Amino acid sequence: MTTMAKPRPRVLVTRRLTADVEARLARDFAASLNAEDRPMRREDILRLAESHDALLVTSIDRLGPGFVDAVPPCIKIIATFSVGYDHLDIPAARARGIAVTNTPDVLTDATADIAMLLILGAARGASWGDRMVRENRWGEPSPTSPLGHDVSGRRLGILGMGRIGQAVARRAQGFCMQLHYHNRTRVAGGKEHGARYHARFEDMLPHCDFLSIHCASTPETRKIVNAETIARLPDGAIVVNSARGDIVDDDALIAALASGKLAAAGLDVFRNEPNIDPRYRALDNVFMLPHLGSATPGTRGAMGMRAVDNLEAFFRGERPRDLLTGA
Ligand code: DGY
Repeated sequence: MTTMAKPRPRVLVTRRLTADVEARLARDFAASLNAEDRPMRREDILRLAESHDALLVTSIDRLGPGFVDAVPPCIKIIATFSVGYDHLDIPAARARGIAVTNTPDVLTDATADIAMLLILGAARGASWGDRMVRENRWGEPSPTSPLGHDVSGRRLGILGMGRIGQAVARRAQGFCMQLHYHNRTRVAGGKEHGARYHARFEDMLPHCDFLSIHCASTPETRKIVNAETIARLPDGAIVVNSARGDIVDDDALIAALASGKLAAAGLDVFRNEPNIDPRYRALDNVFMLPHLGSATPGTRGAMGMRAVDNLEAFFRGERPRDLLTGA
């Protein structure tokens, strides 16, 4: 008598992932891969989902509001290739009994490195300096022009003291920065890295020569950096964001950069990426990157493996390590 092999779970993968991750997906699942890495429309993902058990999505997919409610009932788990999950409606998934997982930890260092690059790049004029050299506008050097702003020894306020915020604090200690943080709850002493806790975000702001954003995008944090909170920063402060664009009110940030209230900004993330507010491009005191926080082969590979670990655990009937809801 022959025994029938158990059918492999069917996984729809919305974007191309690193070769080792795709090889594992092809080995362990009936995986539909996106070999050409063509961005998929929401309606195409939903249509293809009808013949799958699981979705492996990314934070750059244009899933749009109501996506989780719209996925067909055959989908049992959505694994997102990101630590952030603001693109997925977790309460809706919970209500429908769909499991959701993310990929924390493995991108902490890479993202904290980018935050330091933003701090340094915004303060020291990496963007305008690079353009001066490239465009042959270096001219005659002068002792007084061009000048950036000091980083070492200055005050850094960290908004969101999770894994990435803590990793930034560790790095900033190397620059002898004086650390402050705001988090919904105070973190354990060993995780504060000498930073002074402020229970209210507003109370931290006057102490920030630099404000670095590391909180999740939630209804409570959206546009939390706005005209009122920026006004509480010292004149000439610098704001950097490697978390999510919608935590910042673009109108307020752009006005503060144009008026000189803020000396500079460093931005790796934007509302409505990649179609960013075009006014940023006209500001010389903004150092911008195209959402590179996790963009190294090692980190992207580790994120993919983590997403696959979660899928495999789920289909073995175990609790996935990074379960946000379900199962
Ligand atoms: C994340 O994982 O949330 C990052 O922003 C994606 O690069």
